[in-house]
Amino acid sequence: IGLSPAHAEGKKVINIAHRGASGHAPEHTMPSYELGKKMGADYTEIDIQMTKDGKLINMHDETLDRTTEGTGAVKDHTLAEIKKLDAGSWFNKEYPKLANPKFVGLKVPTLDEVLTHFGNKTKYYIETKSPEVYPGMEEKLLKTLKAHGLLTPEALKKKQVIIQSFSAASLKKIHKINPQIPLIQLLWYEEKGLGKITEKEMDEIDNYAYGVGPNIEKINRDYVQKVRKHGLDIHPYTINDKKQMKQAIEWGVTGMFTNYADRLTKILHGK
Ligand code: G3P
Ligand code: CA
Repeated sequence: IGLSPAHAEGKKVINIAHRGASGHAPEHTMPSYELGKKMGADYTEIDIQMTKDGKLINMHDETLDRTTEGTGAVKDHTLAEIKKLDAGSWFNKEYPKLANPKFVGLKVPTLDEVLTHFGNKTKYYIETKSPEVYPGMEEKLLKTLKAHGLLTPEALKKKQVIIQSFSAASLKKIHKINPQIPLIQLLWYEEKGLGKITEKEMDEIDNYAYGVGPNIEKINRDYVQKVRKHGLDIHPYTINDKKQMKQAIEWGVTGMFTNYADRLTKILHGK
């Protein structure tokens, strides 16, 4: 592959293990995170939700139904109730070819448990999910990160933690509390045709975030170049296909979310 603009500036393309190595193991479980790290990911991506008793847990959906045998909203269940659920068996049923008996009975991890387990052995790319449903989520997140020593000047300098959200309000809240934390504004384009971003929108994002994370399906080279020219980083989601990974790098992305960190590692190593 040719030298991308990001490479040319000496900027590394970051490999973000989306929900861990979720193409190989049940998303947001310890084995999924372990595997993503083993496969060479720079960042472990974590979606957070909040339980009835105010604990931050790692789960993509607002409800328990898809990834556990429980039902109903996370916010209506205590951590103790959620800890009784099996967060791995759904994967074996859904993907019989990837099924592994080790996945049966896996627990939903709390953010705190994952930070304790990995410490600074991985970097974290944390998404505040549905922050409007969970008042106080941002304060709790920052308190947890601080308690784990992840907001020290050294940690901030090396972007040990990046926080992402679709909610500009959530990111602005975090920025107000601690303007040093690197933030990424997620974007979701669903209209027909390609997604568009204006200079005005980028100026606004510039006030609190250092980059954007759009859905890959709706962007092209021009979009990526426009964002890069503005001085913003760009981490599209979710790229699983090797050809598409190479193309995105060639367009000049500065990182990407993937369920297959192994594939991206190979590409970044020229394989
Ligand atoms: O956070 C990037 C990407 O994960 C956003 O979409 O729905 O997978 O959280 P989602
Ligand atoms: Ca996410």
